[in-house]
Amino acid sequence: MKRIGVLVSGGGTNLQSIIDAVSQGKVAAEIGVVVSNKPGAYALERAALHHIPSRVVDHRQYQSVMEFTRAILEIMKENKIDLICLAGFLRILDRLLVDAYPNRILNIHPALLPAFGGKGMYGHHVHEAVIVSGAKFSGATVHLVTAETDVGPIVVQDTVAVDDADTPESLAAKVLQVEHRVYPQAIRLVLEDRIIIDGLRVKLKPGSH
Ligand code: GAR
Repeated sequence: MKRIGVLVSGGGTNLQSIIDAVSQGKVAAEIGVVVSNKPGAYALERAALHHIPSRVVDHRQYQSVMEFTRAILEIMKENKIDLICLAGFLRILDRLLVDAYPNRILNIHPALLPAFGGKGMYGHHVHEAVIVSGAKFSGATVHLVTAETDVGPIVVQDTVAVDDADTPESLAAKVLQVEHRVYPQAIRLVLEDRIIIDGLRVKLKPGSH
């Protein structure tokens, strides 16, 4: 059984979608550990409710991003994690983790990358920027994590319409529904080794869907 490590910072609705997909047999894996950089994150409660081990790695207690990342990497190794999922994890990590888990780290982003990504583009900042830009569509993107923020190969992406009446909050809610659908799909494709990475393009192996 493949083991997933989930990194979180907040409410953890994406963590919940992964927990649900695992318990419904849609993702053949077990969640080995949940790590939060925020001590009080509700995502930790969700882990506890489902008897999933969790750890807090508070970024404020580390001298550098590299040391913070090393602490997370140690936990991933201790728990024999095969695939790391960033699920509303709002800290930038050192490339140490990417080097240790090449093409084995996924991130979910609440917009259609490569637009509206990069440093500072997280949570409500993303939805505000989308509305201000006048874009008619937004969506959710699950991508492989590379050393540079939000530019790794896209595994699954889906859209929502941006309506004239949308606020950042209403857009976030619509996008979140898509996130909960596409993240388990992407995890499944990667865990089942059904993707071919061709530069930035992720192709499905013949016969996969
Ligand atoms: C989600 O919308 C996720 O895409 C976003 O934070 C939210 C976390 O929600 N992540 C980013 O913006 C990363 N750049 P959750 O804690 O309920 O899963």
